Amino acid sequence: MHPDRDTPTPTPTPTPTPTSTATAPRLPPGPARRLGATLGYARNPVRYFRAMADRHGDPFLMPTMFGTWFVTGHPDAIRTIFAAEPTAFDSFLVDMLSDIAGRDSLAVIAGDRHRAERKLLMPHFHGERMRAHGDRIREITRRHAAAWRPGRRFALHDTLMTISLDVIIELIFGVHDPARVVAFRDAVLARDRATTPAIVFFKGLRRSFGGLGPWARFRRAADHLDALFRDELAARRAAPDPTRTDVLAQLLAARYDDGAPMSDRAICDELVTMAVAGHETTAISLAWATSWLLRDPAARARLLAEIATLGEAPRPDDLARLPYLDAVCMETLRLTHPGTDIMRQLNRPMRVLDYDLPAGTGINVCIPLLHRRPELFPEPEQFRPERFLERRFAPHEFVPFGGGHRRCLGAAFALYEMKIVLATLLAGFPLRLAHDRPIPAVRWNVFMAPKGGVEVVLDGPAAR
Ligand code: HEM
Repeated sequence: MHPDRDTPTPTPTPTPTPTSTATAPRLPPGPARRLGATLGYARNPVRYFRAMADRHGDPFLMPTMFGTWFVTGHPDAIRTIFAAEPTAFDSFLVDMLSDIAGRDSLAVIAGDRHRAERKLLMPHFHGERMRAHGDRIREITRRHAAAWRPGRRFALHDTLMTISLDVIIELIFGVHDPARVVAFRDAVLARDRATTPAIVFFKGLRRSFGGLGPWARFRRAADHLDALFRDELAARRAAPDPTRTDVLAQLLAARYDDGAPMSDRAICDELVTMAVAGHETTAISLAWATSWLLRDPAARARLLAEIATLGEAPRPDDLARLPYLDAVCMETLRLTHPGTDIMRQLNRPMRVLDYDLPAGTGINVCIPLLHRRPELFPEPEQFRPERFLERRFAPHEFVPFGGGHRRCLGAAFALYEMKIVLATLLAGFPLRLAHDRPIPAVRWNVFMAPKGGVEVVLDGPAAR
C-alpha cells in the first residue's frame, strides 16, 4: 500500500519555525505522516509526488525527517523562487552534506563564497570552451562502444557511465594516461558506491567502528580519491604546461577578485563535485534518450536523416547545432529527468503564490510535476521532441538544469556531450532494444534511472 493512502484526513503541517505574523501563516495542505512521506519519497519520488499532488493539489506541504518541504511544480511559484535574492536561501541541509560533498564544494557553500566561487568556475564551462573538446568526446564514445559484440545483449547504461566518467576525467581533470584514467575511474566509482543512503541521511552513522562500517568505507574511498587529486596537483605544479585546456589547468591559474588562488582543498572538493554531479546525470539522460529513440522508429529515422545532412564525417560543432537532436535531448530531460527535485532552504520568510512560508522551510521545485503540466506540455506522457521545435519555454516552465543563482554549472557541457555521444552511437552502431516492455524509472543513488539499464542488442558491425 502507498505510505500515505491510509493517513487520516490531512491537516496542514505545523510550521518549522514561528514567523513574525500574529496569526498562523497560510500554508498549503499536505500529507500528515512524516515517516510515510520520507519513505514514499525515498522509494520512488516521482510516484510519490504525483500521488500527493493528485490528492492535495500543487503546491503541497510535506513533512519529512529532514524538515518540512514546500513542494511545487507550479510555474508562477517557480518564477518567484528562481527570481528571489540568493541571500534568501541557505544551502540545503548543509550540515548533512558537507561531510559527504566536501565543505568547500559549490553545492555546499552559500552567500558571498558561493557567488565568488561561481564567478571563478563559470567561464570554464561556457559552450565556447567546450567546443574545443568535441572530437575527444567522440573518440571516447567510439572507443568504449567498440567493445560491444554483435548479437550480445547488454545494459547500455554501463557503457554510458564509463563514457561520461572518462569525459570528465580527460576534459575536466586533464588526465589522459590510460592507467591513470582507470585509477581515477575506479576511485570515483568506489566513492560513489560507498556513498550509501544510510550515511547520507543518518549523521549518527558517521563514525568509524574500529575501521569497519559504512562510514569507514566511505572515508577510505574519499581519502583515496583525494590522494589521487593531490598527486595530480603536485605533478602539475612541478611541471606547468601553458598549452593545457582542461578545467583543472584553468583552476590552478584562476584568481579570486582579491588575487588569491584556490586552495588545494577547494580544488579537490570542486573536482569531486563535478564528477558526482556530472557523470551519473549525463549517463542516465543518455540511456533514456537512446531508449526513447529505439522505441520510436519515426523519431529515430528523423534524427538519422538530420545527421545525414551533415555528410560522412560531421563536425561535432555542426552536430551540436542540429535542431531535432537538440529537441530529442530536451524532450528526454523533460519526460525522464535523472533527478526529481531542485532544493533550497529558506533563511527568512517568503511569500510564494499566496502562501507565507516561514524561515527554515525546505523549498522543493518538483521537476516531474512541472514537466508534466498538460497546459505546458500537451499529452505529457508522450515522447514528442517536436514540442521543443514548436515553442520556446520560459526558464520557470522547463527546468532541466535548475535556475536562479544555483543553475547547473555544467549545463552547456552536459548538453554538448549528450548531443555528440547520442549522434555517434545512433548513427554509428545498429542498436535495438532487447525487449519491448515499458522501462520504469527506479532509484539509482539519489537519481532515478531506467530499470535494467536499457538492455540492447547490437545488430551488426559498427558503421565505418
Ligand atoms: C544531463 C546532465 C545534467 C543534469 C540534468 C544536471 C542537472 C542539475 C540540476 C537540476 C542542478 C541543481 C540546480 C539548482 O539548484 O538550481 C545541478 C547543479 C549542479 N550541476 Fe548539474 N546537471 C547535469 C550535468 C552536470 C555536469 C556535466 C556538471 C559538471 C561537469 C554539473 C555540475 C553541477 C554543479 C557543480 C552543480 C551545483 C551548482 C551550484 O550549487 O551552484 N552538472 N545540475
